Amino acid sequence: MKRRDFMKSTLGTALGASLSGVSLASMAANAATKIESEDINSRALLKDEYDLHFLAIGDWGRNGADHQIQVAKQMGKWATEHPNDFIISTGDNFYPSGVVSEHDPLWHYSFENVYTDFSLQWDWYPILGNHDYKSDPDAQVRYTAISRRWKMPSRYYSKTFKIKEEAEVLIAFIDTNPLVPEFYQNSEYGPHVAGQQPEKQLAWLNELLQTSDAKWKIVVGHHPIYTAGPRTDNYDTLAVRKVLQPLLEKHRIPLYLSGHEHSMQHLKVQEKHFHQFISGSGSEVTPVKKGVNYSRFEASTYGFMYFAINKEQLQVQCIDHEGKAIYSSIIPWNA
Ligand SMILES: [Fe+2]
Repeated sequence: MKRRDFMKSTLGTALGASLSGVSLASMAANAATKIESEDINSRALLKDEYDLHFLAIGDWGRNGADHQIQVAKQMGKWATEHPNDFIISTGDNFYPSGVVSEHDPLWHYSFENVYTDFSLQWDWYPILGNHDYKSDPDAQVRYTAISRRWKMPSRYYSKTFKIKEEAEVLIAFIDTNPLVPEFYQNSEYGPHVAGQQPEKQLAWLNELLQTSDAKWKIVVGHHPIYTAGPRTDNYDTLAVRKVLQPLLEKHRIPLYLSGHEHSMQHLKVQEKHFHQFISGSGSEVTPVKKGVNYSRFEASTYGFMYFAINKEQLQVQCIDHEGKAIYSSIIPWNA
């Protein structure tokens, strides 16, 4: 029974009961309804054929400068007008050099005072980028205890989300910085990757992907495995590809999401199972190359991505800083 019909029916019964001598007070006690506040707010009315929705933004914290504010406003508008469950940040959360503590004023100037729309007050699941490693990366973990919405329990972690028919979506939020050997000799990154034991994280990821029964398994890391941007053959791209690609292929992971390149891209190497998306233009853009044979879409455009998932398929849309959907792709579930 629809809620409106149910309430009408309850009211009709109550009036009838009053006329037949049963008190309205006793009737009310017997006919308690179970309406939670979430059931009657406007977000509950935003429904589509998908069960789980999230925004993905990367490479953003610039005190609102360049196009950070414009992208933030469009994220808020999009999440107000479309169903959305949470927000993923693909890293490089604070330029130019991360945050020094969980009380760094940049939390206010680059995050809290920029992503102000009510629709963006839901959970954020961030990962760390290389710029976050120039100061204290663990400060971003500690901010989880201060913020209601910032959820980074450790430098890498995983979350499982329920979709219909008891199916699940697993998202592994990884830290690609310790996977780049050159960082250990770098004067800025070195002190913060020291002692990170990349083989331990890779063993954790392998075990997670191996043992999970989730219908969809998604891996999110800052550095891309492939890119049609300036870093196609850069040392960090090659380092991450070397260790992550075999894991993604072994477990037939359908989707790897990254940032780092300041553009939006959809890449698919023909003989590989996984699709790779890059969402790294949350405030600045850098060039993309045309004609890369594994690129299905590349745009040097400010914006964010919007993902929608059900048991059968996953839809990805790229939204620019004016709120226009400039690309859409559907990936059918394929065992
Ligand atoms: Fe980066």
